[in-house]
Amino acid sequence: MNIVDLNNVTKKYFINKSKEYQKVLDKINFSINKGEIIGFIGANGSGKSTTIRAILGLIKIQVGAITRNTKSIGYLPEKTKLYKELTGREFLSFISSLSSNSLKRSSVIDLLEKLDIQKDQEKRIKNYSKGMIQKLGFVSSLINDPELIILDEPLSGVDINARETIKDIIKEFSRRDKSFLITSHNMQDIADLSHRIIKIVKGKIDFDDLSQKYFYAKNQNYRIKYLEGNDIKEIMADENDLGSSINEIKNKEFKLLNIIKVEKSIL
Ligand SMILES: Nc1ncnc2c1ncn2[C@@H]1O[C@H](COP(=O)(O)OP(=O)(O)O)[C@@H](O)[C@H]1O
Ligand SMILES: [Mg+2]
Repeated sequence: MNIVDLNNVTKKYFINKSKEYQKVLDKINFSINKGEIIGFIGANGSGKSTTIRAILGLIKIQVGAITRNTKSIGYLPEKTKLYKELTGREFLSFISSLSSNSLKRSSVIDLLEKLDIQKDQEKRIKNYSKGMIQKLGFVSSLINDPELIILDEPLSGVDINARETIKDIIKEFSRRDKSFLITSHNMQDIADLSHRIIKIVKGKIDFDDLSQKYFYAKNQNYRIKYLEGNDIKEIMADENDLGSSINEIKNKEFKLLNIIKVEKSIL
């Protein structure tokens, strides 16, 4: 059984008083399966956070349906706002008091130590740095051992070591059959983590498949340089027309200079 199903989800926001609206989500369909890590990508303003808020039931959708087959969803919002007067420890015990299914104290300490914020547990959150808040928010999204964890830009604002640690923790939880929906603008992180990639473009799903397919099939491009007389010329080709482009250059008796594999911009 899927953890979450989105069926034809459409969300409109009114943009002014004359009832003009913007369709922010347009017939979105996808499911989240058990144990999978979904990389949810798309340019700024494409509708990722809105989709997430709809899944969490924080906003109402006008058309379509969202089925949640679990009550336990962990969430790290894009802009992490925590209770600033609490200490890290108080904040985490408050969050874990909301559920009867929290992680063991020793597992929480283990996470805090891995992220190097165990030593900061008695400090008030108002004295935390951006990265520390992000790490604490990340731990709080896991603390009640939810079946699905939704992380909106979990790796922004943290240093390189913490990035790797957070990715390792996500992979470890996914091996225990936890599902993740993760947004990031960093394609290296998305490639490292995701089993599946869902790409949204202007409120519509543009790609939903295994991540290998995304990175190997969709993302290969070649830059071919050649000499036409004394001029250096350059053309682009993708996987499919690489051979024919090279043949064309050879048939015209131009001199092939080099072929460089380049990454297409994926957003
Ligand atoms: N509460 C809101 N009222 C009006 N427009 C909104 C609201 N929230 C988001 N939007 C608009 O919806 C679009 C998608 O936003 P968002 O889901 O935050 O994108 P993303 O997370 O992919 O960057 C943007 O054009 C944004 O301005
Ligand atoms: Mg967003």
